[in-house]
Amino acid sequence: MYQSAYVYDFFMRVVYRKFFEKRYKAVAEFIGKGKKVLDLGCGTCLLHRFLDKTCHYTGWDLNEKFLSLNSHLNVMKKNILDYKNYPETDVIVISDVLHHIFPNHTNLLKNAINKAKKVIVMEPHSIVKTTNNTLHKLAYKIFDSLLGDDDGINGFHDRLDWFKMKKQGVYSFFKSMNPVVIREVGPDYLAVFEKEN
Ligand SMILES: C[S@@+](CC[C@H](N)C(=O)[O-])C[C@H]1O[C@@H](n2cnc3c(N)ncnc32)[C@H](O)[C@@H]1O
Repeated sequence: MYQSAYVYDFFMRVVYRKFFEKRYKAVAEFIGKGKKVLDLGCGTCLLHRFLDKTCHYTGWDLNEKFLSLNSHLNVMKKNILDYKNYPETDVIVISDVLHHIFPNHTNLLKNAINKAKKVIVMEPHSIVKTTNNTLHKLAYKIFDSLLGDDDGINGFHDRLDWFKMKKQGVYSFFKSMNPVVIREVGPDYLAVFEKEN
């Protein structure tokens, strides 16, 4: 799925159906107008389509195929764990990314909150169901590498460990980081964090 931006966008629509647009619109509403936005792990820049046109968008990702499709935007090939080089920004968005970079999710979120006035995280809580059944795990590994979350950057077992947290674990993680907002948008949690002055 991460080999082609078109395949990725198609599968996002299939997986999220009526929530496909709702989730980016919800993020865009929390951003508002006239803001500098840093989209970490921007993928195919789906968020950009829903942003108010007065916002200034910057996207970071390591997937060259995704980035090249959006070369007309302000996108850069950068590792999102390179915290010290984040540009000055009003809002950082981390959409559908935490399960990719587990176990670095806490550090990523802490650094983002430290850098921007507002951080908005959108993360699925119940797209992937895990079991201890060996056959099920094998089938999921094959699916993951063909049509799932294998981004060619991060490891399968780390991703699986994130999904083992299940819905309650994902909620508890967000709560532990003191969000000002946490709400469900279909199969995702949307959490908003603000820097304490
Ligand atoms: C599921 S996609 C989410 C894309 C986009 N944020 C969205 O909501 O549609 C996860 C993205 O994170 C990117 N990614 C994963 N680890 C990364 C890292 N260490 N640095 C930069 N990008 C990374 C992948 O290349 C992929 O494009």
